[in-house]
Amino acid sequence: MKILGIPGSLRRASINRALLVSARALAPAGVELVIDDLRPIPMYDPDLDDPAALAPVEAFKQRIAEADALLIATPEYNYGIPGVLKNAIDWASRPAYRSVFAGKPCAIVSASPSLMGGVRAQGQLKQVLLGMAAEVFPHPEFAVTQAGHKLHDGELGDEPTREHLAALLVALRAWVQRRQAGPSQSEPGL
Ligand SMILES: Cc1cc2nc3c(=O)[nH]c(=O)nc-3n(C[C@H](O)[C@H](O)[C@H](O)COP(=O)(O)O)c2cc1C
Repeated sequence: MKILGIPGSLRRASINRALLVSARALAPAGVELVIDDLRPIPMYDPDLDDPAALAPVEAFKQRIAEADALLIATPEYNYGIPGVLKNAIDWASRPAYRSVFAGKPCAIVSASPSLMGGVRAQGQLKQVLLGMAAEVFPHPEFAVTQAGHKLHDGELGDEPTREHLAALLVALRAWVQRRQAGPSQSEPGL
């Protein structure tokens, strides 16, 4: 199973990217997590017709299309999702309702130095994903609060949080497998 990890931050020392690096290390058997990079994506401009500028967008869409699921690690900026992430999503959201997001299983995580851990941005991102007919992983929010204490040197060091993240990945794998098995499979409780 191929999971595309999308960090909603361009920062070299991003704690959300670090969260994905730890998720990649903790991924259960059969799951390959590849971490994307939104840096090459230009600002959304539907009039942009320079093939060189559009190539990163097409490549990004292709990576989403080829993934069995997405794991988006979003920072929270002013109670919302960062423009960098929204910009990339907007590019990949066309054509509306028939884009690479339509029916795509998507899970969300976040990390923040705050006591809220970015949950407000998660709520906003969920709404955006639903607006593109993506399938949102029905799981309680996974938010790394006070991340300065838990994420060091690009790694999640806090053991309870690592265990929680590992369990989330196992649940995500099971959910994606059930979906791939077909609609007759009933969803067990969370
Ligand atoms: C413009 C801006 C707005 C921010 N607003 C919030 C916020 O609303 N809530 C929050 O928890 N953290 C907020 N932060 C702090 C970020 O959570 C923190 O910078 C975090 O490290 C960003 O994620 P990253 O390390 O993955 O880039 C804000 C940071 C910036 C730069």
